[in-house]
Amino acid sequence: MPTEPENAQDPIRPATTGFGRRGALLAAGAVLAAGIGAAADELARGDRAANRTGSAGGPPPGPAIPFHGVRQAGVTAPQQPATQLLAFDLPQTSAAADRQTLRGVLDALGRTLAAVASDTPPDPRLQGGGTTRLTSLVGVGPALAARLGLDVPAALAELPAFPGDRLDPARGNGDLVLQLCAADRWTLTVVAELAGTAAHAAGAAPRWSQSGFLPRTAPGTTPRNLFGFKDGTANPDDAAAEQWVWGPPGAHRNGTVMVYRRIRMDVAGFAALPADRRDRVIGRRAGDGVPLTGTAEHDDPDIYAKNPDGSYVIPVDAHVRLTSPRLDGGARMLRRSYSYDDGPADRGLLFCAFMRDPAQFVRVQDRLASRDALTPFLQHQASAVCYVLPGAAAGGTLGEQLWT
Ligand code: HEM
Repeated sequence: MPTEPENAQDPIRPATTGFGRRGALLAAGAVLAAGIGAAADELARGDRAANRTGSAGGPPPGPAIPFHGVRQAGVTAPQQPATQLLAFDLPQTSAAADRQTLRGVLDALGRTLAAVASDTPPDPRLQGGGTTRLTSLVGVGPALAARLGLDVPAALAELPAFPGDRLDPARGNGDLVLQLCAADRWTLTVVAELAGTAAHAAGAAPRWSQSGFLPRTAPGTTPRNLFGFKDGTANPDDAAAEQWVWGPPGAHRNGTVMVYRRIRMDVAGFAALPADRRDRVIGRRAGDGVPLTGTAEHDDPDIYAKNPDGSYVIPVDAHVRLTSPRLDGGARMLRRSYSYDDGPADRGLLFCAFMRDPAQFVRVQDRLASRDALTPFLQHQASAVCYVLPGAAAGGTLGEQLWT
């Protein structure tokens, strides 16, 4: 495995976490000018691709995305524009009683999610515009798995604390995590209510909830985050996902582990940097997402390429260097993050990543927390990790593998 090169290239500043300095309010307007032209092109393409008629409500919905399948559609289906994450806790009585409660909650969630994702969702509020295109995933947290002796992948574990974390426990963790995704906010609001009611009736207590969204993006192109950069470019292809994302052969083959981080972003502070600095913080160009060493968005960033003066083209503290799979024996994670907006001072990224072994996240985040040039503009505010269950076959229930 290649080792990380040393480099004396100018760091932008020491990687302290939080929005330490500067008021930096000026820049929101100047934000991301480089990306605007490209984004407009993408939207124009998207309009054509979606064959919009100009009627209210946007493009017509496509066919329903089945709930049942070998793997949960919340990981496998193309990323949808809107998300709602919900977490629940289970009562703590005896292991036997709590196992029974968990079975009931998973059964209730499975039935509800299958019904709302179908061609004929039962709630009249979901019947106006064709299918909901709802996708979902359900996962169990490591504390619940340990408490109830569930059969989960050995790698499932709580995340350690990282330098700079400012985690609010009320916004993170949880015995069960549910992620809903859909084309629109309305569907999510209704489905979150139905799923929450079903889980609660079966014995689960709501713990936290968080909504997120993506910009409109043409099919097959990469959405941007609130810093204006394309986010999700370097995701694994199917073959790499089989190796690094989905579980090892055996009972957990069709499951994966999700790491969730609610990361507040100093959007104005980042936008106050000169455009070329922003590109060097990430290691890619904001406008087109091309790595500083490449000519096309999907070129692999070459973290070993050097300038004539001997410095690295992708700076030593650039985000794509410190997250490079080359520093991790080729290990990849599948990122399907969303932006969130909970008020002008609380906007950021809902980092959602899927991997076989969450130790991969720990290694990467350890590097980011101490050295990433992006870190001074970020504050990790909530965290959760869960085992995303294999899918349920028609007639089956979610979590059948947990009881072996
Ligand atoms: C708000 C926080 C973050 C922002 C704004 C951000 C942004 C980006 C951007 C713009 C890219 C380059 C485009 C792409 O390949 O998607 C990227 C790549 C990546 N990021 Fe982040 N990121 C954030 C947090 C994280 C965290 C917490 C992790 C994991 C600990 C992470 C892991 C990765 C990985 C693995 C890549 C791909 C590297 C490669 O294969 O080239 N990111 N991120």
